[in-house]
Amino acid sequence: MKLLFINGVNLNMTGRREQDIYGTQTLDEINYEIVNHFRNDECEFYQSNNEGDICTAIQCAEDFDGIILNAGAFTHYSYAIRDAIASIKIPVVEVHMSNVHAREEFRHKSVLSEVCKGVICGFGKNSYILAGESFKL
Ligand code: DQA
Repeated sequence: MKLLFINGVNLNMTGRREQDIYGTQTLDEINYEIVNHFRNDECEFYQSNNEGDICTAIQCAEDFDGIILNAGAFTHYSYAIRDAIASIKIPVVEVHMSNVHAREEFRHKSVLSEVCKGVICGFGKNSYILAGESFKL
């Protein structure tokens, strides 16, 4: 299976920012664990702080079996990313490391969920793994 893991704005700061919420591991360290977990699959990783670049990555993902997307704060307001997801045929699972519903009110709203296959949040780095596993069910 070919899985594309996309991380959006500020996720490159994982391990350095708000460690009580996002943990102490860097994104590279988390991605390394993901590769290890999905040993028999092909994993690709992309991170950008730019909304348009995330849209381009989604548009170019047609030969993947699925996208695991943590759009960061873009989740809560990016109609551009929402439209990019709606424009492709392959399924996208929305992911958050934190339980966004147990946090500030602005995080309770996702403009992406409606066009995603499903949403996984609150399991830290394992949110990515659970989302990847969901494509195998
Ligand atoms: C996040 C939750 C978002 O609300 C936040 O803006 C992030 C990370 C998460 O993984 O929990 O940057 O997507």
